[in-house]
Amino acid sequence: MQDIYNVLKKHKQEHVLKFIDELNPSQSTELLQQLEQIDFDELDNLIDEYVMQEPEIKIPADLEPAPFFPLKAKDARQEELYTQAIAKGRELLQEGKVTALTVAGGQGTRLGFDAPKGTYPITPVKKKSLFQYFAESILRAGSKYGHELTWYIMTSGLNNEATRKFFEENNYFGLNPENVIFFTQGTMPAVDYNGKLLLSDKDSLALSPDGHGGTLLALRRSGCLDRMKSDGVEYISYFQVDNPLVSVVDPLFIGLHALQESDMSAVMLAKTEPFEKLGNFCVSNNKLMIIEYSDLPENLAKARNADGSLKFIAGSPAIHVLNHKFVSELTKAGHLKLPWHRADKKIKFINDNAELITPEKPNGVKLESFIFDALQLAGKTMVLEAAREEEFAPTKNKTGVDSVESCREMLIERDAKRLERVGVKIPRDADGKAAVKIEISPLAVIDDDDARSYCQTENIRKIDTKMDNIYLT
Ligand code: UTP
Repeated sequence: MQDIYNVLKKHKQEHVLKFIDELNPSQSTELLQQLEQIDFDELDNLIDEYVMQEPEIKIPADLEPAPFFPLKAKDARQEELYTQAIAKGRELLQEGKVTALTVAGGQGTRLGFDAPKGTYPITPVKKKSLFQYFAESILRAGSKYGHELTWYIMTSGLNNEATRKFFEENNYFGLNPENVIFFTQGTMPAVDYNGKLLLSDKDSLALSPDGHGGTLLALRRSGCLDRMKSDGVEYISYFQVDNPLVSVVDPLFIGLHALQESDMSAVMLAKTEPFEKLGNFCVSNNKLMIIEYSDLPENLAKARNADGSLKFIAGSPAIHVLNHKFVSELTKAGHLKLPWHRADKKIKFINDNAELITPEKPNGVKLESFIFDALQLAGKTMVLEAAREEEFAPTKNKTGVDSVESCREMLIERDAKRLERVGVKIPRDADGKAAVKIEISPLAVIDDDDARSYCQTENIRKIDTKMDNIYLT
């Protein structure tokens, strides 16, 4: 006890022991364990670099837009490559060399939903949760490719229990519980603008998840990398819990990644405007990197090619494939230094009188690492363009841009277009939107081939205009 007090005093953080005499033994053990995990020299450095000043954003002078494989093959050779990639991706899925990984450790503060984000009822008709929607896609992919997929779900200490409980209560949505693997990411202590650690209670620091960059080390520490190895998994299909539109395992993306011998690959979308809130794929010193939208200088964000298109057009929807080998190598020393990113947040804390304060404006800093910073550490990378309306409907807010509303509209539109592509007539209103709320169960359909055979078997040629909504399963 004296030791930890001395350490805290040296680093001017002894205030966190203010209530220690009021705690019972298990509470004080809890707090001491949290403190023991902190490297206080490192914390001092981080506070100096990221909290006491605005961190300096270094934009390399040689920054160029990143090259990418376009959505539509540009010539016959590329067309042939894409065909081979799809075949390769399917083969890898059939051989069980691919696993799905969802990062679900975030706090989802913008959504304002008091439960893990993955439990949010998202689908337009049945109001299936995000987790159920992914689970059903994963089930379908397993039966389609003849090899059951394992699904890794990263939680944080703050939502792990609630997430597991949700799966248990829902019988894992039909998945084999042995193939749904939860692992928990690390945390970082939050500090106020004076660099002081905040307490969330008398017996606990205000801790927050350490960012999706924490996935890599968490995979190692939890033993998941070992499990993947013994299962023969070579490729990790990575996506975020708030994007139900994503293909959980896309044969083209996985196959191209493998054929290009990439260590870590990324999907890109064409940005709709210079300052769209997506990370920008760039290259510097021959290394692929993502520069956050808020950090890309205005002149670069607005720069245009001769044909009028944005020069830095490639935005990131946070969809990746990573080699198991790459993640193993990166983390083999048991630590991994990804850069930290500062986020100014409203952090609940207890004051000197032990009163819980819920601030109305940001009162401190959380530090997070981002998975995309691993791209710079990869030997070989690959970027593939995807169609936004097929792959990306982020659920960040309740209404407006990137919201529950916009996500539901995109899910309806994706399914409507999919049906139209296989010859089904869809009623449309004056604005061209589907006039009926359509939802197709991923248990039946996860791609156009599935849609074609489903509509043939069920003899579906048109959607009845008189219906309010329709659910196909
Ligand atoms: P966001 O950056 O959108 O953060 O996460 P968030 O916590 O979900 O939402 P806000 O910012 O508080 O509103 C993008 C994805 O990364 C995961 C999230 O669960 C989401 O799938 N994530 C984020 C983690 O798994 N861990 C983290 O520490 C942060």
